[in-house]
Amino acid sequence: MTQRVLTGITTTGTPHLGNYVGAIRPAIAASREPGVESFFFLADYHALIKCDDPARIARSRLEIAATWLAAGLDTDRVTFYAQSDIPEITELNWLLTCVTAKGQMNRAHAYKAAVDANEAKGEEPDAGVTMGLYCYPVLMAADILMFNAHRVPVGRDQVQHIEMARDVALRFNHLYGAGQELFVLPEAEIEEAVATLPGLDGRKMSKSYDNTVPLFEGGAKALKEAVARIVTDSKLPGEPKDPEGAHLVTIYDAFATAEQRAAFHAELRAGLAWGEAKQRLVELIEAHVGPMRARYAELVAHPERVEAVLQAGADKARARATPFLKTLRQAVGLRPMVASGAVASAQAGATPAKTAVPVFKQYREADGLFYFKLAAADGAVLLQSQGFAEGREAGNWVKRLKTEGAAALEGAPVSLVVDAAEAHAALAAVVAHEQEAAAAKAARA
Ligand code: TRP
Repeated sequence: MTQRVLTGITTTGTPHLGNYVGAIRPAIAASREPGVESFFFLADYHALIKCDDPARIARSRLEIAATWLAAGLDTDRVTFYAQSDIPEITELNWLLTCVTAKGQMNRAHAYKAAVDANEAKGEEPDAGVTMGLYCYPVLMAADILMFNAHRVPVGRDQVQHIEMARDVALRFNHLYGAGQELFVLPEAEIEEAVATLPGLDGRKMSKSYDNTVPLFEGGAKALKEAVARIVTDSKLPGEPKDPEGAHLVTIYDAFATAEQRAAFHAELRAGLAWGEAKQRLVELIEAHVGPMRARYAELVAHPERVEAVLQAGADKARARATPFLKTLRQAVGLRPMVASGAVASAQAGATPAKTAVPVFKQYREADGLFYFKLAAADGAVLLQSQGFAEGREAGNWVKRLKTEGAAALEGAPVSLVVDAAEAHAALAAVVAHEQEAAAAKAARA
């Protein structure tokens, strides 16, 4: 089955080496795996939580988009978009907000950190805390669940958010799924070796610690200057150094092959001077980053190209998001009171049309075997069965699918003609329709 991989980067700053190693590089690598469908986006709604400087938001959107493209993202293979170009995400955000426990948001790390900082300063616990910050994890869950992502590559600091997204998905499925999995339960994916790249001072590389190594900004010169500022111990040239404890080595390892790592570690143990080690590190990073920097400069000089890529990505993303949101609205009860055809007919004074629910069709082919398929209202085939010797066998599977929905798909002799999420949604609609029909019948009896 296709695995959907999704991740976003908040557009508040200029990407640094930590963003590249921790998020962009592993995400692009994952997007090249066979059987993977990737969704990468600019988390620009999240950016508004952290930053109220419009110029900085705008600049960062361009820089981060250009960084992904320069780093080798293949936008034919992946869906690459800006969160703010997908209005369905904010709409889903509300549906999820209504099933999210407030107590769980109280425990979110970002919010708790803000409260702790306030208390340390003797201020009101919630001073300066916006609802945006407080509800940050719900918006993130909407990002992930909108596309039913299976895997979410993130830094370790984001793992709690993915767990919250799972909880929200579980709760939503439980409340509204009628036994179906409307949402896939996402899993965080951490590249163990480089989960969080250390910065110049050994803490996590982060703009808020002012300890970053720039990715492209300032060219090779800025890279060299940053590396020169990496804190090391005070062992002299010739003295053996422990590669395990040194964050300079962790940064080196993030770019090195296994052989390069082994050689570098051995040299340090043999007394390589830190100054020399820094020189090696600059060369290693520059070999990776130099060619990308040239592509980046070209893109930043042509924002219209970047915008066109994002708009095409948004179209691709919304082709998924729009029908899925319709299913979700239906699931929570935000439905037309009658079938849409009926509204039109009623307006025209005609007789109401039937509800546009997908239908199962059973039939016999020239090969003598019995088949069934699930077809959408417009006739498009969603599921196709294999042939059965007995008509009854086909009938039994149809019955199961109508009552159990997607849960019965496991092991069913059918192939999905459409994406799993779409098939699941169609089955959910069928099950809901069957239940409504049964309830209506019971009420009449
Ligand atoms: N919160 C993430 C960060 O700061 C960015 C983000 C927003 C994200 N939405 C997401 C990451 C969805 C993964 C999936 O790093």
